[in-house]
Amino acid sequence: MQNILITGGAGFIGSNFVRYLLQKYPAYSVVVYDKLTYAGNLDNLRDVERHPQYAFVRGDICDAAAVERAIAEHKIDTLVNFAAETHVDRSILDADAFIRTDVYGTYVLLEAAKKFGLRYHQVGTDEVYGWVEQGSSRETDPLVPRSPYAASKASADLLIGAYVVTHHVGATITRGANNIGPYQFPEKVVPLFVTNAIDDLPLPLYGDGKQQRDYQFVLDHCEAIDAVLHRGVIGEAYNVGTGHETYNIDLAHAILKLLNKPASLIQHVPDRAGHDRRYSLDVSKLHALGWQSRHAFAAALEKTVQWYVANAWWWRKLKSGEYLAYYKKQYEERT
Ligand code: NAD
Ligand code: TYD
Repeated sequence: MQNILITGGAGFIGSNFVRYLLQKYPAYSVVVYDKLTYAGNLDNLRDVERHPQYAFVRGDICDAAAVERAIAEHKIDTLVNFAAETHVDRSILDADAFIRTDVYGTYVLLEAAKKFGLRYHQVGTDEVYGWVEQGSSRETDPLVPRSPYAASKASADLLIGAYVVTHHVGATITRGANNIGPYQFPEKVVPLFVTNAIDDLPLPLYGDGKQQRDYQFVLDHCEAIDAVLHRGVIGEAYNVGTGHETYNIDLAHAILKLLNKPASLIQHVPDRAGHDRRYSLDVSKLHALGWQSRHAFAAALEKTVQWYVANAWWWRKLKSGEYLAYYKKQYEERT
């Protein structure tokens, strides 16, 4: 493993992973391939843009010729796919781009992996298991996605399984729980609530706020991807999370407390359609690879809040233009 293509590397988790790889593996060459959608942002990679082992290619994962060109030009041997449409609420408003990128785009990348003999890793999600009423999801559980986003990611996982069996592509999958940390687009609940709270704006909490998520720190997720990329068994999927869930209402209160803002900023708004009330992961398979989460929820949240307080330059300009149009569409009738 020497020359790694990181598709979707200009997004939240991808950019954290690029920074992590360049620090940990000085011999690796890291090439980011990204379409730069509304969620892709070169500010996320500003601190590595002059790194001698780093290069950026703008391109769409649905464009097979452009993908192959990037792989050939940079002598790529490994591909880690973060590229996706990722926001559940947007997938409810319009799923078109989700099917294109998350399903068709994954197919294009698998074809390229087959043709060039690449090691392939897919960054997947716990949302493929659907609402987990009791217990915790294991990797062998059925995929029962309930949002268009989750269905597009589950489709990708199924395609990968088929390419491993039929075409012997050397692929692995990680299924991560909700990530929090630096550079997350402020549509997702944590950066949305934190940046709204900083500006004394309401925190729109869906329904009763008793939905549960396993909020993990993004660098723990990066370490898990690293572990699976280097030590995972081909053809296998691995759950990634802390293994502990938090209620959204408790998350909202914790954010307000860290920022010294009043609880009156919490505004209960009508629920998301088809809202999965709980995700929960059994992470013992990944523990067996020697990985452990290093940030419990409270520490992860505190680090995250501090970063948004210190980096208003990064998020303030994102909360304009297309973002405001989306925000109006998503929240105006709710509030
Ligand atoms: P993000 O929305 O912040 O970034 C996605 C990136 O993909 C952006 O840089 C965007 O420009 C790029 N992209 C989108 N469509 C593309 C296309 N057609 N071609 C090339 N690039 C394209 O996403 P994120 O939160 O960093 O998530 C990264 C991956 O991790 C996704 O696959 C997501 O499903 C998965 N995941 C996310 C979470 C989470 O909590 N954010 C949890 C588990 C898994
Ligand atoms: P989100 O960050 O969109 O991640 P996902 O839906 O992929 O888990 O949402 C996390 C949780 O927060 C989810 O239960 C929905 C809830 N939520 C709100 O209550 N209000 C909001 O404005 C948003 C965006 C999410």
